[in-house]
Amino acid sequence: MTAPDSFKTIIEPFKIKTVEPLRMTSRGERAAFLKEAGYNLFRIASANVLIDLLTDSGTGAMSSEQWAGMMRGDEAYAGSSSFYRFEETIKELTGFRHVIPTHQGRAAERILFSVTSGPGKVIPGNHHFDTTRANIEVTGAEALDLPCREAVDPSLSAPFKGNIDLERLESLLQDRAQNVPMCIITLTDNTGGGQPVSLRNLRDARTLLNQHGVPLILDAARFAENAMFVKMREPGNADRTPREIAREQFSYADGCMMSAKKDGIANIGGFLALNNDSWAERARQLLILTEGFTTYGGLAGRDLEAIAQGLEEVLHEDYLRYRLRSAEYLGDGIRNAGIPIVEPPGGHAVYIDARAMLRHIPPDLLPGQALSCALYVEGGVRTIEVGTVMFGHIDPKTGQQVAADKDLVRLALPRRVYTQSHIDYVIEVAESLARNRAAIGGYRIVSEPAALRHFTGVFEPVEAVPG
Ligand SMILES: Cc1ncc(COP(=O)(O)O)c(C=O)c1O
Repeated sequence: MTAPDSFKTIIEPFKIKTVEPLRMTSRGERAAFLKEAGYNLFRIASANVLIDLLTDSGTGAMSSEQWAGMMRGDEAYAGSSSFYRFEETIKELTGFRHVIPTHQGRAAERILFSVTSGPGKVIPGNHHFDTTRANIEVTGAEALDLPCREAVDPSLSAPFKGNIDLERLESLLQDRAQNVPMCIITLTDNTGGGQPVSLRNLRDARTLLNQHGVPLILDAARFAENAMFVKMREPGNADRTPREIAREQFSYADGCMMSAKKDGIANIGGFLALNNDSWAERARQLLILTEGFTTYGGLAGRDLEAIAQGLEEVLHEDYLRYRLRSAEYLGDGIRNAGIPIVEPPGGHAVYIDARAMLRHIPPDLLPGQALSCALYVEGGVRTIEVGTVMFGHIDPKTGQQVAADKDLVRLALPRRVYTQSHIDYVIEVAESLARNRAAIGGYRIVSEPAALRHFTGVFEPVEAVPG
């Protein structure tokens, strides 16, 4: 039931049955934890984090119905009844013929690209997520981002900044469609700020791809948040249910891969859903080799139950309204503190434009890393850099840091976990940093792995860290 229009407060549409205590730490303790962690927030123990906005992935709170499903989980190796519930839920939602469970989203990516990509191939998309890009590139193929023009300016507020640039997609297809095994559209565009894709853009991309015989695959990690944005922003959709819109989104595609740790509201899991029989056959062979049998794919029966239930709950309109409002509320608070954010706030997160906030730190001294470290020391708030650390690289010829096009810090909201007072606290921490931004110094990389350096790289401040 939707609350009457006369009440403007959008409350958390749930009450709390189980609680987890949060541990307070002092500023001095946090500065020491950070130093010990090599200034990499992935290396900090969660017990030493007060508000954990590192990711919305796998961090959601499950409902009583999901926990009940966990008890019902059928742990049979083959043909588990939990798999059939999972499969039916996904088929009903997406319309795709083959449903292949995986332990999380990147396993679905690895399997899909292993069976379809390789050297000489190019996979365009609106904006590939980092694991998607890495799994494409590891096959020898090229991952090509074609974000729409509006996406380039973080301060520009536009309703569908997640759209793919159709003109550039068309010119790529004209030049080398034979080398394009698929196009990937990510709903919502996580890397670009959690920005949605319009139905119109999906429909137009589909038409264009059809002309060249290229399939469209959705990265559906946040398909429900995208559907709610469509309902709220795209003319003609206000009276439709999120489920109807979600179905239409899937109807333009030939398949999807999904991390169920996001809009599956589950703590682990994912899947690949495809129409192409031959891709599905090869994907299942690879699944058996590396993930598990085709009816569990690396997941327990109880996880399949939790995902099936989560995929139902995530489309409740009250939930989605509260969800998008929470991010908007956080975004309003941070913007009002004088901190530039990617506009408008995304569905699952607010992205601070660290490069614009900390103009005294040049991109090669990692302003995003500097801000996320400062947020932790200041208030125990854990976030993630989405910028030069994640997407830049060292030039092998000059040994210099090559910066990414933006330096953002993402504050991702776990689903159904924090209340408005937690968010008010985060806003206060941000306000305090905004007042003292000149005291925040840059960072350099001490050591980094060959790929995905943000997870395990070690950093050091180029000036003393405040605190
Ligand atoms: C858009 C998108 N695609 C794929 C993934 C990878 O999913 P997973 O973390 O379950 O491997 C993520 C995870 O954050 C994501 O945001």
